[in-house]
Parts: sequence; structure tokens; C-alpha cells
Amino acid sequence: MTQHAAVTAGPEAATSSKPGLREAEAPSAEAINAFYNGMMPYWHPVLAEADLPDGKLVRVELLGVGIVLARLNGAVVALRDLCRHFQARLSLGEIIDLDGLQQVMCPYHGWSYGADGQCKRIPQLLEGRKIPSNARVDSYKVTTRYGLIWVCLQDEPKFDVPDYPEWGDSSFRTVVMKENEPSKTSSIRMIMGTLDDTHFPWVHQGILGNRDEPAAPDHRVWREGQYLVLQYDVEQPPNLATTDMSAAGVDQIEKIALRYTDYVGMPNVIRLVKDSAAGRYVVWLATCPNSYNQTTNFWAFSRNYDMSPERDSTYEEFSAHVRTQDKPIIESQRPWLLPPFWSQIELPLGPADKPLMEFQRWLEELGIVSGI
Ligand code: FES
Repeated sequence: MTQHAAVTAGPEAATSSKPGLREAEAPSAEAINAFYNGMMPYWHPVLAEADLPDGKLVRVELLGVGIVLARLNGAVVALRDLCRHFQARLSLGEIIDLDGLQQVMCPYHGWSYGADGQCKRIPQLLEGRKIPSNARVDSYKVTTRYGLIWVCLQDEPKFDVPDYPEWGDSSFRTVVMKENEPSKTSSIRMIMGTLDDTHFPWVHQGILGNRDEPAAPDHRVWREGQYLVLQYDVEQPPNLATTDMSAAGVDQIEKIALRYTDYVGMPNVIRLVKDSAAGRYVVWLATCPNSYNQTTNFWAFSRNYDMSPERDSTYEEFSAHVRTQDKPIIESQRPWLLPPFWSQIELPLGPADKPLMEFQRWLEELGIVSGI
């Protein structure tokens, strides 16, 4: 949909029964392409390192692209999951040893590919014939960080993998939360849902806020390198993310004062830092945009108080409970992709929604959000 057409169609879609963008409808091809192309030059987490054992091929999807992951000759490799011959999935094949080097072999006719994506063996090739130079599949940049495999679909990532300084810091305990299935939403909506704080009293009543105190905090928002930073001070009911609940006398506490500092590693990672008298609690979310309407979430939670390992399961349950409260709300949002400001489909409200508006403003500058 062109911008000109949508200026008319957007508000109608939101306020009338005229067919604008129906709830079940996919975004326009332009909007999806803008999202996919705009998100390409960044590192995206695709799989936990532990889920890629030696000798195994694993298929993942990133921005609508099928990728086969493998450990070849000791290094993680990411190749396009379509054989150059007749486009069968390489991930259905196996890892073979060829002249002392591991290769990915297609299950269909046995063509085999090295870490650089070049075909190294065609079993049917006549003797004396060379393997065509264009017998190759795309090979993508890969790195590992924070227990995850990260892939960038472009040769030059625009930003580094965002920092998570508490990871691996022995003064913190970190628990990792693995979701059973991807979320039915876009990664951008996942990040916004985690950045949004004015929903706390409504969705997390009694945990992160109370409905009789709905006023938004005074947000300070700024850009810092590759990060959008948000800071504000609030009071919340005591909970595991602000208080050592194993300590004596916590049941006497009504409210806890804390400072949030949220770092959005543009455009797909967020780190919420909560500082209170108890210490620091960090919520970290790295999202993998499988497609415009499916996101795999990788969560981790770090704390520097109540450090006993036996307490980890309590923190895991708490985190899972809060995430379960958010999930159906975020999955219900339409359109799947964040509609640009010009469409007027959504009605962000200043100053309460300022952090979300600043995030969206940056996404629009990056070309990630541009159509409906
Ligand atoms: Fe892969 Fe033929 S399709 S070898």
C-alpha cells in the first residue's frame, strides 16, 4: 500500500467498518519487505548454542529465510537451507567428512557444501569436469554470545551484538528462560511490550503496579550509540525483581522505590535494569524475527541478591508468570507489524507513551517500519 493511499485508509481502518486492514489480514507485501529488508543488517539470535550438538543439522528461520546451522570443523556455520541443485532442504541431509573437512551433504543427490557455501562434491559429475563456480549457497555471518548463536544476513552488521554485562559476571546469578514455542507476534511488538511500563498496573496488577495509581512515571529518553535508553523512578509492590523476598520482615513492606534504566539494543534486544535497595535485577530479551508474525524469544534474568542457586526455580516461576500475563495481550495486537505514525492506526499518547514513540521514531528512520 502506498503512503498516499494509506493516509486515507489508515484512520478508516481504525474507526469504521469499512474494509481497511482486517484483523486476520497480512500486512501489505511492501510493509513485509520493508520489515525484512530493514531488519537484515543486524545480528539476530537464532538458537541456543546447547541446541546445536556436533554432528547435527538444525534448521532455523530468520526474516523469512530458512537457514541450516551446523558445527563444521569446530566452528558454527550458517548456510541457506536450499540446495543449489533442485532446492531441497540441506537440513534434511547430514554432515560428512570429505578430504578431512566436514561438509553439509544434501539428502537428495548428495551434493556437498563447505563452510563458505561452495559446493565441494557432486557425485554425478563426469570425470574431468569441474564443479561449476556458481554451485554454491549463501553463507551467513555467525557469532556466539550469551549462550546463543547469532546470525546476520548481511556482510556488514550495522551494530554489534548488544552488551549484556551481567552475563558471566560472578557477582550475579543468571537464569535462562526457554519458551516452549515462538510467540505469534512481530519482534518489534515484543520489544515494545517489554519497553512499555504504563501497562504494569493493568496487566501485572499487584506485582509491578496497582490500578489505583495509573499515572505514568516521568520518562527520560535518549539515544546512546546503538541504544535507545529510558530511565525513570517508580514505586512498586515488593516482588522478586526488587526485593529479597527470602529475607525476614518483607511482608511488612508496602512499596519499594526503584529506578529503571532500559537499554534497547536497536532493533531487537532489550535489557531492563532495575536498581533498588536490594540490589540489581536485570530482565534481558533477545528476539529472533522468524517472520513478520512469528518471533522466537530468548530470555535471561540476572540478580545480585538472594544468590542461593536453590532460589533459581522461584525466580524462573516468577518470570514465567509475568511473561504469561503479557503474551496473550501482545499476540492480540494488529496489524502484525507496527503501523507507521502517518497511518494513524494507533494513537500513542504523550507523555505517557514517549518511550514507545521514540523507539518507533528510530525504527521508522531505519526503514524497518514504513507501511501497513
Ligand atoms: Fe540437493 Fe539435488 S537437490 S543434491
